[in-house]
Amino acid sequence: MAIREILEVPDPRLKTVSQPVEAGEFDDDLRTLVDDMFETMYAAPGIGLAAIQVGVPKRVLVIDLQEPDESADAEDCGDDECGHDHRPMVRNPRTFINPEILDPAEELATYQEGCLSVPDIYADVDRPATCRVRYQDLDGNVHEEDMTGLMATCIQHERDHLEGILFIDHLSRLKRNMALKKLRKLQAA
Ligand code: NI
Repeated sequence: MAIREILEVPDPRLKTVSQPVEAGEFDDDLRTLVDDMFETMYAAPGIGLAAIQVGVPKRVLVIDLQEPDESADAEDCGDDECGHDHRPMVRNPRTFINPEILDPAEELATYQEGCLSVPDIYADVDRPATCRVRYQDLDGNVHEEDMTGLMATCIQHERDHLEGILFIDHLSRLKRNMALKKLRKLQAA
């Protein structure tokens, strides 16, 4: 496994429309790509990564929301007001090959989104609150799954990368320009 370099805005490769993984490509190279994507995502750290973000224009996503273990007791950090969730995080690595978004809900949900390719920029984005995802696993088997909550938002954000779309492309021109200006300042610093 290896950590790969994450492309950042304004790298033009982020606007690439990624190509499907074909039937003959569910092989060791694909597994290596996915292993590297997880290692890169965990190290960043982030909760989702598309292959194009490491420069590979293939329709491959990895996601791990790393949510707290609901069954575990919170560790007491000694600060009653710190506000953090001190339950241990559970890893739940998910791989989506050739994902398609089906049946997006009319109801929208708003999350403050960020992106490893747009570092240190966060903004509220509205997306369908639920959706169904059809995808292949690493063996090429097809699955369908209903997505809700943060997972629904995350998979739509990652799926956008495969079309060359970033979360800031969902913002108004004014907000997007402000975000890009702030990013340029941060990158120059
Ligand atoms: Ni992203």
